[in-house]
Amino acid sequence: MRRILVVIDMQNDFIDGSLGTREAEAIVEKVKAKISAYPPDAVYATMDTHGKDYLNTQEGQNLPVAHCIKGTEGWKIRPDIAALLKDAKIYEKPTFGSTALAKDLKAAGDIEEIELVGLCTDICVASNALLLKAAMPEVKISVDASCCAGVTPEKHAAALETLRSCQINVTGSPKTEKLVKLSVVFDTHTGNTRQAAEWIAEGMDRAGAQVRCFTLDSVDMDYVRSSCGVVFGSPTYSALMTSDLRSWLQGNAQNLKLGGKLGGAFATQQYSHGGAELVIQSLLELELVYGMVCYSSGGAMGRPVIHIGPIGINGNKEAFSSLDNYREYFGIYGERFAKKAAELFG
Ligand SMILES: Cc1cc2nc3c(=O)[nH]c(=O)nc-3n(C[C@H](O)[C@H](O)[C@H](O)COP(=O)(O)O)c2cc1C
Repeated sequence: MRRILVVIDMQNDFIDGSLGTREAEAIVEKVKAKISAYPPDAVYATMDTHGKDYLNTQEGQNLPVAHCIKGTEGWKIRPDIAALLKDAKIYEKPTFGSTALAKDLKAAGDIEEIELVGLCTDICVASNALLLKAAMPEVKISVDASCCAGVTPEKHAAALETLRSCQINVTGSPKTEKLVKLSVVFDTHTGNTRQAAEWIAEGMDRAGAQVRCFTLDSVDMDYVRSSCGVVFGSPTYSALMTSDLRSWLQGNAQNLKLGGKLGGAFATQQYSHGGAELVIQSLLELELVYGMVCYSSGGAMGRPVIHIGPIGINGNKEAFSSLDNYREYFGIYGERFAKKAAELFG
């Protein structure tokens, strides 16, 4: 009985092309190591393959980003991975799942386990895993989460949960051992603080936490109540948190049962010296009043040093002119916060 590896859609467009993500780039070396661990004749692969009429197809209407158009650079498997797949049987597929792959593996008949890796967790990896499970209910179907990336970190995590529900064996995710639930709650008027919140959530997801982000009008109170850590964020308004966030916190803190949870704070501002640290400080003060255990990341964590919480500066004419400069920094804060939460509550 053989173990089979299926490498899903490790194509340029999904890694650093039109639909690329940092998370996809981050799994490349792990996928290469995974392929090398299998005998060459046990490795299969798929390629998302569209024609020039992609935008007129049903998929193209729903996802109007041209990608994996046959013959283009974006369609090709990333060269260093393609080199490892030179003996693999490769299936071009016009949609998410490959029925031809499922048919061939079923016909092979001597398989005890099929492991999937690749892109994207929540679309083609999930589709193919479920297709293989449907074709071969008695074969163990596994997905190595550390060798997959989703359209977003949140969708990656959600897809893994769904796959677990469908009895797919999910490995390589710290969630199987230590699942901490975290929330990021923020106010935003022009989207900068939302962006920062999503970057924090990316870092938390990388550290293996389950995380959801909420604006003040969309908070899932049950989810926040059941979270062991909450990070609050605000734009800087006249060197203060927004009045909406302060009054929302004052109205809901008790109901959220914040006491004993890990708390953190972040802010965005327009000017390098615009007062965002005062926003973070006052958020942390409120968190202390609510009985939260406050986390700052702090100088002791080394570089980047984040003394009381992360700040992003947007669109001014000073040295740091783009919020994008702060993506890594917010992500690192999210990772540190999630690791501390896992240490305390995991
Ligand atoms: C009423 C108001 C007051 C503001 N006050 C400050 C301030 O004191 N310091 C600062 O650096 N930026 C200030 N800003 C800019 C915002 O803090 C900044 O653009 C922030 O990133 C907006 O976040 P959002 O896109 O999530 O709404 C202010 C913006 C508004 C609308």
